[in-house]
Amino acid sequence: MAGHRGMVGSAIWRKLEAEGYTNLIGKTSSELDLRNQAAVAEFFETEKPEVVIDAAARVGGIMANSKYPYQFLMENMQIQNNLIDFSHKTDVQKFIFLGSSCIYPKHAPQPLKEEYLLTDSLEPTNEWYAIAKIAGVKACEAIRKQFGKDYVSLMPTNLYGTHDNFDLKTSHVLPAMIRKFHDAKMNDNAPACGELDETRDEPVDASSKPVELWGSGSPMREFLFVDDLADAVCFALENKLPENLYNIGTGEDLTINELAELIQRIVGHTGKIIWDTSKPDGTPRKLMDVEKLKNEGWEATTSLEEGIKKTYDWFLNNQQKFKEVKI
Ligand SMILES: NC(=O)c1ccc[n+]([C@@H]2O[C@H](COP(=O)([O-])OP(=O)(O)OC[C@H]3O[C@@H](n4cnc5c(N)ncnc54)[C@H](OP(=O)(O)O)[C@@H]3O)[C@@H](O)[C@H]2O)c1
Repeated sequence: MAGHRGMVGSAIWRKLEAEGYTNLIGKTSSELDLRNQAAVAEFFETEKPEVVIDAAARVGGIMANSKYPYQFLMENMQIQNNLIDFSHKTDVQKFIFLGSSCIYPKHAPQPLKEEYLLTDSLEPTNEWYAIAKIAGVKACEAIRKQFGKDYVSLMPTNLYGTHDNFDLKTSHVLPAMIRKFHDAKMNDNAPACGELDETRDEPVDASSKPVELWGSGSPMREFLFVDDLADAVCFALENKLPENLYNIGTGEDLTINELAELIQRIVGHTGKIIWDTSKPDGTPRKLMDVEKLKNEGWEATTSLEEGIKKTYDWFLNNQQKFKEVKI
């Protein structure tokens, strides 16, 4: 299991343990740097894994991608090339490669079907990362085609959940909203809810500090709870899927404004939401077509409300971790 400490990898690890798998092997990046070919060769020689799940990657948002294009391209290719190639050379029969929906063309029709891969140009802000991921998908496809091994690629939509990144400089939209609404609710300098402010006549509701969010709120996005992705990985592990590439999502989307209002309600913030329309909206809609894996017998089961509640509970219990800045 590569990347077992990350948000995705740790969810898969928990799921595998819950399913009764005992012979799991996971190394941190300081124990085994997957960019290092010789170290990876030695690992495969010593440990002889039967199955490899690749959830290790250099991951980041638009800012990180545009600041470090070479690392996003090269490190991701090094990590996956070493894992895929040594898996193949040491006769690993099953390999599960994780990518993301950014592999699909920027202007592909919605919902995104697997067959749209490589039909048009990519979103330029993260093409470095996307090209590395496409190379991983193609490497697995080539091994499957040429050698008949069960190497499969799973492309999740936007993920969220426990162990997410809540650092506002680097986080994705959903955890960033949780953090902003929570901070507005808790860190207001105004007296706590119902306490009397001597300079005012009325009690002040500290949870009413406004929250500013980027864009217009109109783009539509899809979100998958990370434990559902872990369930899909387990499904791919236990079943031989007939094709090489599958989307993983809920097949449902909502506007960013609807998402904000849902999170606001769950967090218990009662102030205004201010949309900063000077900031970019990004692509108007991004939704996965999930019929292909549904036809094989898997679909997501966690509702967005249930998933956000679980994520917020985890955030409340782990706030001390968010002082670290992940880049
Ligand atoms: N998060 C999302 O919304 C999302 C959506 C779609 C797809 N995905 C995919 O899911 C996968 C994992 O993403 P994530 O969100 O879980 O990322 P993450 O939380 O940043 O975790 C990344 C993992 O990769 C490991 N890693 C990075 N560089 C490494 C290296 N040189 N050697 C060994 N291990 C290395 C890290 O190990 P250490 O912790 O030991 O350093 C960590 O366990 C990626 O392929 C990503 O494309 C994520």
